[in-house]
Amino acid sequence: MSKRSDLERSAREAMKNAYSPYSHFRVGAAILTEAGNIYTGCNVENISFGLTVCAERNAIGQAIVTEGPGMKLKAVVVTSHNDAGETGACSPCGACRQVLAEFSDRETTVQYPGADGPVETTTEKLLPDSFRF
Ligand code: THU
Repeated sequence: MSKRSDLERSAREAMKNAYSPYSHFRVGAAILTEAGNIYTGCNVENISFGLTVCAERNAIGQAIVTEGPGMKLKAVVVTSHNDAGETGACSPCGACRQVLAEFSDRETTVQYPGADGPVETTTEKLLPDSFRF
């Protein structure tokens, strides 16, 4: 089993636990760290909509909890479903791009469901020239 299919399966599994009663849009994220571990997250919404946390950021939080502040991302896979169980496009939001950039290098890959099928990209391409001190 390749790491990519492990990540896809893990993201789909995490997506089942999404708390999304407002958007009815489930998102799962699975990340592979440089240390070789996989962590997952799902979106967790709130009645105060702005407090919603995306799947990607929850997965990163899980990784930091276990690996500590040196955690680095190697690969990220995002999956999404609407209420009918159909895959919906889910390009990572701006907030998630910024948080992904924090823990990435130029080679960190990201796969997400685009309008015409899976999109393969990098965190660098998702947020070029990101802020650095
Ligand atoms: N969402 C994610 O989990 N990740 C993204 O990158 C984009 C959006 C979630 C947030 C919200 O629960 C739902 O998708 C609809 O916006």
